[in-house]
Amino acid sequence: MFVSIVLSALIAQPVFAQEADKVKNQEAYIDGLIERMTLEEKAGQLTTYGDEIRLLNPDINPDVNRRKGEDLIKEVRAGRVGSLFNGRGVKGGRLAQSAALQSRLKIPLLFGADVIHGYRTVFPVPLAEAASFEPQLAERTARVTAIEATAAGLHWNFAPMVDIARDQRWGRVVEGSGEDVYLGKLFAAARVRGYQGENLANEDSMLATPKHFAAYGAVSGGMDYNTVDISPQTLREVHLPPFKAAFDAGALSTMSSFNEINGVPASANRELLTDILRGEWGFKGFVVSDYTADMELIAHGYAANEREATKLAFLAGVDMSMQSGFYIKHLPALVKAGEVPMAALDDSVRRVLRLKAALGLFDNPYRSLDSEREAADIGKPEHRALARDAARRSIVLLRNVNDVLPLNKTSKIALIGPFAEDRHHLHGPWTLFADAKEAITVAAGIRAALADASQLEIVQGSNVEKPIKGGIDAAVEAANRADVVVLAIGEIHEMSGEAQSRTDIVVPAAQQVLAEAIAATGKPMIVLLRNGRALALQGAVRDADAILVTWFLGSEMGNGIADVLFGDYNPSGHLPVSFPLESGQQPYYYNHKSTGRPFIRGEAPEFKARYREAPNEALYSFGHGLSYSKFKYDPVKLSSKRMAWDGSITVSTRITNTSSRAGEEVAQLYVRDRVASSTRPVRELKGFKKIRLDPGQSEQVSFTLTRADLQFVGADLQWIAEPGAFDVWIAPSSVQGTRESFELERAK
Ligand code: BGC
Repeated sequence: MFVSIVLSALIAQPVFAQEADKVKNQEAYIDGLIERMTLEEKAGQLTTYGDEIRLLNPDINPDVNRRKGEDLIKEVRAGRVGSLFNGRGVKGGRLAQSAALQSRLKIPLLFGADVIHGYRTVFPVPLAEAASFEPQLAERTARVTAIEATAAGLHWNFAPMVDIARDQRWGRVVEGSGEDVYLGKLFAAARVRGYQGENLANEDSMLATPKHFAAYGAVSGGMDYNTVDISPQTLREVHLPPFKAAFDAGALSTMSSFNEINGVPASANRELLTDILRGEWGFKGFVVSDYTADMELIAHGYAANEREATKLAFLAGVDMSMQSGFYIKHLPALVKAGEVPMAALDDSVRRVLRLKAALGLFDNPYRSLDSEREAADIGKPEHRALARDAARRSIVLLRNVNDVLPLNKTSKIALIGPFAEDRHHLHGPWTLFADAKEAITVAAGIRAALADASQLEIVQGSNVEKPIKGGIDAAVEAANRADVVVLAIGEIHEMSGEAQSRTDIVVPAAQQVLAEAIAATGKPMIVLLRNGRALALQGAVRDADAILVTWFLGSEMGNGIADVLFGDYNPSGHLPVSFPLESGQQPYYYNHKSTGRPFIRGEAPEFKARYREAPNEALYSFGHGLSYSKFKYDPVKLSSKRMAWDGSITVSTRITNTSSRAGEEVAQLYVRDRVASSTRPVRELKGFKKIRLDPGQSEQVSFTLTRADLQFVGADLQWIAEPGAFDVWIAPSSVQGTRESFELERAK
């Protein structure tokens, strides 16, 4: 019997090195299969379809679904499909897998899905979780996501999404880790480790798919699917590193993106998918296209027809086609005609089969299809507990005038706004498998925390985008009766996510009007923002006494918010995206360049890089986030003002909690390369530490910098560092802190 062991070439763990013979057996087994496969069977392994077998949903179009499901089973039996995605459940999974085992060569199916931030237990949207500045938290939530998803019969996760998002109009900002490369790299790697676990062959491990390769976040105008026109330096310096970090952490599949890059669609981009991915980085896994991305080469105007689209995508390096069916339809003929080499087809099939082997599917095709585990491992209480902790750690306190927060549990609260009792927009835009009924609303969370639930009055006040007749009057009356107003406003989940870009990233007008009316009562007003991106806050919302960014926090949203509102948890989140002053500042990111005419506050503004209507700064820049504690940073100190070419320096500061409350702070290390052969950003994050300090406690926070931290992509597209002066800060955000500087010396 074939023994499934991960190839040592695929995953570098010492145990596999000792298993050389078994690896050889595995390779021989796969080679044997490939020898016996027909062209169709090969193309079948490179084809994935939406799982109509498990989606056999009797409530929606029962006949259509049954027919599609039955047709698909026939395709699986014929060996014309290698993988299914976005189905759920052990029962249907066993049915589909048994069909695969009735095929001629009995090659098991691979079950993929988008389990972006939780299966049934929903964690904060990835952007929110990045605000925790705790990659280890993301690793834990990813682990639980994999435990639940594999219990429901899934092997392969279309996550993490690692696209850097510098334009908040783009709806898919919500799926990633924000605007910063360094933060994005750490979260990418952490999520891969969480999904894949110790060994892919384990029942509860899921193959990770960093996506969307590549530069999908750089779509022009922030419009989803739009063109990307980008310098090779920016591509390599900003958009590729989180992918590299994810592959270095062991990810063995990736998804080619929808966008074009400099005239060549990513899904037909050989430079990207083959030269960089395999040539430069040595990636050994497989590439799946995004949903019909091969078909879309025609609409891009890059391929004339289906056949050409298939050929271009395949020869560029897309191993597996998602949903279009183009590979099964056209690859066999392309090989027969000599337009696609058989050896290339075999290489792609081998990559897919190796991963099936690595997952243990040849040993046990029914792995992750165990109904006992399905009943036991999904939605456990400890998973909910983690969801609550993740929720509160993801909240960012933007503003807290006169320490209006935390609230007293005996105060009389008016909870106002369309999100007060809402339960449809707690999870966010990307949850296929969770039940909204199981999530805790804001009202339920606050009610459970209060000493006496009758102190809470709830008034909707407004719909999300339209006023309610008499809504504002009722809200104002409730505000007048209360000690404090908690205003739950923001975006519905349909305002972010795929194909949901916005031109004006503001709180919708009807809710803004509500906020203005509440503010006019003079009652203290706490804003709970629900959002899938950074927003441009205006008027009474911007000027509220306190603002908590609460994103879409998942199953435990209401409890997580209550924990922060009442001080059971002291907020510790920091922004992974800059909140601009105006939508028109987009794309806005803290690590922008200087320009030749930087506008410096206090100096004459004429002929300087600026807008007429708004300052250049953000309202709240990347890294900002308050706590109920107060932290004092001493001036930053360097171990030396000179760094030898192969040496290092230590940058440190002392941080003191000057308040009477224990709290956590994220100390951030930023660097600026003052002069270089390619202009450098005004600041770049190079490290951070989240520390916990008791009242009055101080801690020395230190970072070691080496030349590797000072590198950038030079004119010849290599990572280089250049001798010269560098500025450095340790700060509570990207626009604060005292500066020091040092010199990187020349190589001796
Ligand atoms: C999205 C991907 C997703 C795929 C499969 C596409 O529309 O862009 O992120 O993984 O669908 O559901």
